Amino acid sequence: MLSALRHLLEYLRPYRFEVSLLLVGLLIDLAFNVLFSLSFQYVIDEAIAKHDQALLYTILVALLVAVVVAAGVAVMRDYLYARLGTAVMNDLRLRMFEHLQRLSHDFYTRMQVGDILARFSTDLGAVQNAVILAIPETILGILGVTTIATLLFIFSWQLALLTLIGLPLATLGPQVLGPRAERDSYLVRHEEAQIASTVQENLGAHAVVRAFQLAPEQTSRFRYKLRSLYRIGVRFNLTTYLVERTPNLTFLLLQIAVFGFGAVKTFHGELSLGSLVAFNILLGYLSTYVTALTRVMPPLLMAAGGIKRIQELLRARPQVQEKPGAVALAPLREAITFEAVSFSYTGEHRNLDRVSLKIPRGTTVAIVGASGSGKSTVLGLLARFYDPDRGVVAFDGADIRGASFDSLRGQLGIVFQDSFLFNTTVRENIRMGRLAATDEEVEAAARAAEIHDLIASLPEGYNTVVGERGSRLSGGQRQRVAIARAILRDPQILLLDEATSALDPTTEAAINATLERLGRDRTVIGVTHRLASTRHADLILVFDKGRLVEQGNQRELLAVDGLYRRLWNKQQGLVVSEDGTRAEVEPERLRAIPILSTLSDTMLAAVARSFLSERVSEGRSVIVEGDTTVEKFYIVARGKVAVLKRQDDGSDQQIAALQEGDHFGEVALLRDAPRNATIRTLTPCILLTLQRRQFLELIQSDPRLSHEFDSVVRSRVHPVTMA
Ligand SMILES: Nc1ncnc2c1ncn2[C@@H]1O[C@H](COP(=O)(O)OP(=O)(O)OP(=O)(O)O)[C@@H](O)[C@H]1O
Ligand SMILES: [Mg+2]
Repeated sequence: MLSALRHLLEYLRPYRFEVSLLLVGLLIDLAFNVLFSLSFQYVIDEAIAKHDQALLYTILVALLVAVVVAAGVAVMRDYLYARLGTAVMNDLRLRMFEHLQRLSHDFYTRMQVGDILARFSTDLGAVQNAVILAIPETILGILGVTTIATLLFIFSWQLALLTLIGLPLATLGPQVLGPRAERDSYLVRHEEAQIASTVQENLGAHAVVRAFQLAPEQTSRFRYKLRSLYRIGVRFNLTTYLVERTPNLTFLLLQIAVFGFGAVKTFHGELSLGSLVAFNILLGYLSTYVTALTRVMPPLLMAAGGIKRIQELLRARPQVQEKPGAVALAPLREAITFEAVSFSYTGEHRNLDRVSLKIPRGTTVAIVGASGSGKSTVLGLLARFYDPDRGVVAFDGADIRGASFDSLRGQLGIVFQDSFLFNTTVRENIRMGRLAATDEEVEAAARAAEIHDLIASLPEGYNTVVGERGSRLSGGQRQRVAIARAILRDPQILLLDEATSALDPTTEAAINATLERLGRDRTVIGVTHRLASTRHADLILVFDKGRLVEQGNQRELLAVDGLYRRLWNKQQGLVVSEDGTRAEVEPERLRAIPILSTLSDTMLAAVARSFLSERVSEGRSVIVEGDTTVEKFYIVARGKVAVLKRQDDGSDQQIAALQEGDHFGEVALLRDAPRNATIRTLTPCILLTLQRRQFLELIQSDPRLSHEFDSVVRSRVHPVTMA
C-alpha cells in the first residue's frame, strides 16, 4: 500500500500548488474543529458558570464567523478535489496512451486487448477514487490525530494516556488484514480484465457466435469466469470491510472507557465540567479522524491493485527501440540485404532460420511458400516491427537498427495481410497513407486501386463511414482501400502481404497491372500464395519452414524439381472464372491427389465433372470438428483456410493453414467418421467439393475399379489426411 501511496503522490507532483492549497484548506478545517471543541470549555466554565454575558456572545459570534469561513473553505476544497481528480486521470490516460504508441509488436502479441482496455477503465476508476478520497482524507486524518492527541494531554494527561494506549489497538485489524486485501485487490483487477477480454472477444465474434449457435457455449464460458471473480471478489470485499470495521469497534470501546473514567474524575472534582465536555467532543473528533484514516483503506486497497496494473503497463519496454543517436537512413540506392538472419517470436523455435537474401533497388520480388513458412515475418523484420535475434537487415549495407524509425518507415508503403480500417470515412482511411494528401490525390489513389467507382456508388461517396474495423465493407473492398492507402503514400519501397488475396480474378488482374506500372521505378516486395502472379517478378524467394530454400525467376525455378515446382503443379489445373464466382478442376490435376491417383482417365474425367464449386465468405466454418453429417472432399481453388483443433479448455487453436491447391476431407470419401478438425476460411474462398455418395456411385459403376479402390482404402494410412 505504501508503494501505491508513493505512486499517487508521484501522479500529484505536477499539481503542487493545488495540493498546497488543499492542505491549507484542510488545516483551516482542522482549526475550526479544534476551536469549536475548545469553545465548550469556555462557554461552560467561564461564561455560563461565571455569568459573563459579554464573553458568551463574543464566543457565539466568533463561532458563527468561523462556520461561514469553514463552509467557504470546504467548497473550495471540493473544487480542488474535482480538478485534481480529473486532471490526474487525464494525465494518466495520456501517459498510458502515449506509451502504447511506443510499444512494439511483441507487446501486442503478448497482451489481450481487453486487458489493456481494463487498465484504462476499471483500474483508472479505482485510482481516481483514491486520489479524490484517499489523499485528502489521509492527510486530514494524520494531521487531526496528532493535533487532537496533543490537546487531549493539555486537558488531562491520564485520559490522554488512556486514549493513546488504546489507539494502537485500533490499527491491529488493518495491519493483519491489509496486506491480504492488497494481494486480493490485484487478483480482482486481473479477473475483471479477463472478463473485459472475454466480452471484447465476444463482441468481435458476434457473427460467428450467431452463425454457429455458440451463444450457450459463450455464456457458459463467461459464467465460469464470473464464478472465479465471485470467489475472489467476496473474499476481497469482506476483508476490506473488516479492515474498516475493526478499528471503529475498538474505538467505540475506548470512548466509553475514557468517558467513564473522566466522569468519575469530574464527580470527585478533579476535572472541571467544561473540560470533561470539551475532552469528549475532542475525542469525538479524534474518532472522526481515525475513521477518516480507516475509511480510506478500502479505496486505497482497491486502487493499489489498479495502480500496480497501470504501473505494469507504463513500465513495459518496447523490444524494438530507436537507438539514442539513431541516424536518418538515406533513400535506398542499391539493395536491401538480409545477412544470416534468424528470428523467433517466442524463443521456442526459429521462425526464420539463417536467411540471407538480397533485394536490389527497383526490382519486383515475390515471396512464396506454404502458410506459416515465414513470409510475413520477412516483411515484419524489414519494416523493423521486430529485430532479428541474429544477423543483420541492412539498407545499402547500413544496419536498420541504427536508423531512425521515421527515415526507415517513411520509405515504406505497406499493405498488411489484414487491412485495418479506422471507423471513419473512406476518404480519411485512404488519407492515412499520407496525412497531407489533397482530396484529388486521395481519389487518384482510389482509382489506381480500382475502388473509385465503388466508392462513388456509395450513398455518401468518399464520406461514407466504414464502420468498426471497416465492417461495412467486404474483405476485398477493405483490401483495395488499404492498397489505395499505400499507393497514396507514393513510397520508394512497397511491401504487399497477400494484398490481393480476397479479390476476384478480374479485379486482381487490374490491380496487378496498376502495381506493375507503379513498380517500374520502385522496389516492390510482395508476398503471395498465388504462384501465377509471380510470373513478372524479377526474383522469387521460396520459403519453407523459416528457411529460404530456392530463389530465382519463374523460368529458373520451374526448370528445377524443387518446392516451387511442386507448389506450382498443385495450383495448375484449377480454373477460376473471371468474376471469381466458379471454379473447375481438370481431370489430370486430380491425379496428384493420392486416393484418386490410380483411377483411369475416363473415371477421372467423370470425377472432375462431379465436383461442384462453392463460394464461402471469410470467417466461416466449412467443417466443424466432431460433425458427422458433411461427407465431402474439398479442394481449395482460391483463398486460404485454417485447420483448427479443439483444445482442452474448449477453445479452437489453429494448427495449420491450407491454401490454393491444397485439399482436405479425404477421409470423408473413404469412410464414415466424425471430422477430426474444424476448417475455417481465412479469406473469401472458392472451394471445389465432391460428395461422398456421388463419388461412391461412380466408383461402383465399374466393378474392377471398385475392387481397386477398396485396396487403396485398405492400404492408406495417410498421416497428413486431415478433417
Ligand atoms: N506474433 C506471433 N507470435 C508467435 N508466433 C508467430 C507470430 N506471428 C507468426 N508466428 C509464427 O511464425 C511462423 C511464421 O509466420 P508468418 O506469419 O511469417 O507466416 P506466413 O508465411 O506469412 O504465413 P501465411 O501464409 O499464413 O500468412 C508461423 O509458424 C507462425 O505461427
Ligand atoms: Mg503471412
